[in-house]
Amino acid sequence: MRYLSGIQPSGDFHIGNYFGMIRQLLAAQKEHEVFGFIVNYHAMTSVYDGPKLAGGTLQAVIDLLALGIDPQKATFWVQSDVPEVLELYWVLSHHTPMGLLERAHSYKDKVAKGFSPHHGLFSYPVLMAADILLMDAEIVPVGKDQIQHVEIARDIAIKFNNAYGNLLKIPEFQVEESVAVVPGIDGAKMSKSYQNTIEIFLEYKPLKKKIAQIITEPVALEDPKEWRTCHVYSLCKLFLDEAGQRDLQARYEKGGEGHGHFKAYLADLILAYFKEARERREALMADPDRVRRILKSGAEKARTVAAAKMAQIRQATGLSY
Ligand code: ADP
Ligand code: TRP
Repeated sequence: MRYLSGIQPSGDFHIGNYFGMIRQLLAAQKEHEVFGFIVNYHAMTSVYDGPKLAGGTLQAVIDLLALGIDPQKATFWVQSDVPEVLELYWVLSHHTPMGLLERAHSYKDKVAKGFSPHHGLFSYPVLMAADILLMDAEIVPVGKDQIQHVEIARDIAIKFNNAYGNLLKIPEFQVEESVAVVPGIDGAKMSKSYQNTIEIFLEYKPLKKKIAQIITEPVALEDPKEWRTCHVYSLCKLFLDEAGQRDLQARYEKGGEGHGHFKAYLADLILAYFKEARERREALMADPDRVRRILKSGAEKARTVAAAKMAQIRQATGLSY
């Protein structure tokens, strides 16, 4: 099976990104063909600062490598290094009804929040469809908020195929239900846009500070506490196996510990979980040449696939003459 997913370099990765998408991509590497990339064209919808986009892109690359994307196994690249995707984006635009884009939740949400809409934001799902269809992706692992975008890609592919024959593979999304929506420190969906994130690579002190902001019920130290509705518990759970979850539930029910103890436990869990990734990250940050070499060979691999697919599409659509 061919797995493909992308992530925007528009801010530091957070725990929601990790459990919602990154972890699934890493797991797929073991037995499937994986295509993973940093979608810097997409990030242009919100980042209007050249050095910031460039720096964020390189940092996102380093972070994904540190978290375990293996460039030997996976094809890993930066979106703009394979510009064929923009050609397909134009081709697909003509098979994308306006109504399909007008119904996109992420577009409607941004407009509702007062974001002044531009064409890039409106046509964002068409570029995402091009990302997916260019590479013949079969499975697209994402968090719940991206399901509709994959459905739009399917609709566009079907329309294109109706016009030109079955050239495009119809992709499926994959969402891991248990982590479909990771809550942020306020209990709402963790998202950069809500300022409620816990970043994966926060240092100990800022991490403690973030976690301290998690809202908890006021219950006396000695009294039992409710874990089912506790945001600290929900976040700890991500890092625990079943036995670990039961132990923590028992600590809540027993009383004698305050939410402060559970918050300290959460910080320890996060630091321990990402310890090795943090070490790999430091090593990669000290060796930018190595990172660039990895990207160059990843882009070459991705471009070979993209060029072959575009040649077929050019042929079918009459762009080759
Ligand atoms: P953000 O909402 O912070 O801007 P992105 O839109 O860049 O995050 O999301 C990148 C990937 O991470 C997507 O596949 C998205 O579905 C997933 N993701 C983001 N936030 C969460 C979350 N809170 N829970 C589960 N998955 C998430
Ligand atoms: N829209 C996705 C997000 O914001 C990122 C993305 C772009 C993507 N192209 C993709 C995800 C292709 C999966 C496949 O998270």
